[in-house]
Amino acid sequence: MSLKIFDPQDFPAYLPKLNQLYDDLFTGGKGFRAKLVKMVSGPLGCAPKTMDLLGQTVEFIHNASLLHDDLVDRSFLRRGKTAAWKKFSPEYAVLAGDYLLARVMVNLSQFGNIRLVQYTAQVISDLLEGEWLQDSLVGDFNVDLGQLDRVHNLKTASLFKWCLKAPFIAQENYDLALHQLIEEMGTLLGQLFQRSDDLLDFNVRNDEEKAILGDLKSGYLNSFACFATQGLPKEPFRSCQNLEDFFRALGGRSYFDEKLKGFDEKNTFLIQVYQHHLKNLKELLKESELGLVEELGPLTEILYWRRKPKSTSS
Ligand code: FPP
Ligand code: MG
Repeated sequence: MSLKIFDPQDFPAYLPKLNQLYDDLFTGGKGFRAKLVKMVSGPLGCAPKTMDLLGQTVEFIHNASLLHDDLVDRSFLRRGKTAAWKKFSPEYAVLAGDYLLARVMVNLSQFGNIRLVQYTAQVISDLLEGEWLQDSLVGDFNVDLGQLDRVHNLKTASLFKWCLKAPFIAQENYDLALHQLIEEMGTLLGQLFQRSDDLLDFNVRNDEEKAILGDLKSGYLNSFACFATQGLPKEPFRSCQNLEDFFRALGGRSYFDEKLKGFDEKNTFLIQVYQHHLKNLKELLKESELGLVEELGPLTEILYWRRKPKSTSS
């Protein structure tokens, strides 16, 4: 499934640097969140123009957050290429992120559904709170999983929730029980995605070959590190420079494998809760919307276990 996120005329031609930066940024992205929006809005019968607007909205917000995040994290790479702040300048990366958020508000307010505008503004605010909160935990090796869940709920799950909920809002379906259920499902998807992303840092199921140990080396104990080091003295983990150091600090590779198994089991429970919610969702949908249940079923395989989606190559 190839998705067009924007047309060249969406951005002013008199700002060539900005256009170049966006070409660079969006090329190579999987556009997964836009695909998720399409998966939901299709069975709900959204008009094609609405689907495009929602898909573009979520990708603009996500990419704005990445432009800023790479600068905050001082990450040199994004999607295998030089990060925008490094290639262009920190100033351009910040301005390009701000401009995407401004476009989101212009486009959504033109659409005219005030509840969609309000909800989207809330999600952007959540992303920022999550990033602030995460930053306050850097250097704290006594952090617990509950604190990290709170961060993940704000900085990651909020946008997954948006993908599930925004199409219902755009269709003016405000059923409270339905909204609560899809929020819960979005939270689980976001949490599972973030925990799986945290495993990439330890080179687990890292098929996309993301740089490893970035979190730990910058003093951030991510969810897997937090789980694996529970009950152990934390000081040895502060000086880990590579995976071998981490295995040694844990007391050996076999302890790492044991902890990985435990972490996967813990998250398998979350997957079961998600599948349970999916069954309940059936009861809240109209007959014509039931295709949504089929679409949402395989998501945990893709987001946690990192299996390739059936209909796409990315
Ligand atoms: C990636 O996390 C980053 C996020 C999920 C959100 C970052 C949010 C902000 C920077 C707040 C600003 C938001 C907007 C909308 C401008 P990560 O660093 O764990 O993942 P990575 O390895 O992909 O960088
Ligand atoms: Mg980052």
